[in-house]
Amino acid sequence: MSFLSIRNVFKSYFLHGKRIDVLRDVSLDIGRGELVSLVGPSGAGKSTFLHVLGTLDAPAAGEVLFEGQSVFAMNDARIADFRNRTIGFVFQSHYLLPEFTALENVAMPALIQRRDRGQTYAEARKLLERVGLGGRVDHRPGELSGGEAQRVALARALVLQPAILLADEPTGNLDPATGEGIHQLLREVNRDLGITAVVVTHNEALARSMPRRLRLAGGQVTDA
Ligand SMILES: Nc1ncnc2c1ncn2[C@@H]1O[C@H](COP(=O)(O)OP(=O)(O)OP(=O)(O)O)[C@@H](O)[C@H]1O
Ligand SMILES: [Mg+2]
Repeated sequence: MSFLSIRNVFKSYFLHGKRIDVLRDVSLDIGRGELVSLVGPSGAGKSTFLHVLGTLDAPAAGEVLFEGQSVFAMNDARIADFRNRTIGFVFQSHYLLPEFTALENVAMPALIQRRDRGQTYAEARKLLERVGLGGRVDHRPGELSGGEAQRVALARALVLQPAILLADEPTGNLDPATGEGIHQLLREVNRDLGITAVVVTHNEALARSMPRRLRLAGGQVTDA
């Protein structure tokens, strides 16, 4: 039994009477603790794939299995609960809340889950130190650089200690050196915390630095 399995997944969009087949019979296994990059042309369906894998979007057909359990067979409330407990997301835009500090932004997912405040803030501070921002905890997003904001978003994705981290072009808006810093952090998080991670990137060099590389093209995902 695989940690994470995608079985015969199809996904299409319907818009203005036209159908776009984005995922066409995608099957794939990802082992616990793997660090995987996903590349492919713009519009190929990488974000769509990540959304299905992350249970944000249901496939038209096929299954996503976590430890052998078919995730979309559960009802919506259970899927949402599973997602909150198991998956952390980092998107191309950081989506930090502008009126809250870095520390509050990182703590937010745990506070929403009514976790202990003291423990949550201690954990959030530890995560900010891990991403090199121990000196920026009281900065609001507008008072951070792009790379710093993205590191806060990574810390926030980790605060509920997810088993899986899904990152959609987390370095898309950053200069190459800052981008490499984020990828370095992703490798550390994978290695030190044992988090299984899938990282979408347009940067071939960064993709090559990951132990496993996937390519999405023509609706199919293959090992590259
Ligand atoms: N909500 C939607 N309705 C209709 N079509 C959509 C929708 N979302 C995405 N698409 C189409 O599906 C295809 C795949 O989109 P997706 O965002 O998954 O691509 P991507 O590989 O992430 O591209 P990029 O590298 O530019 O982020 C694109 O052709 C896009 O136009
Ligand atoms: Mg995308």
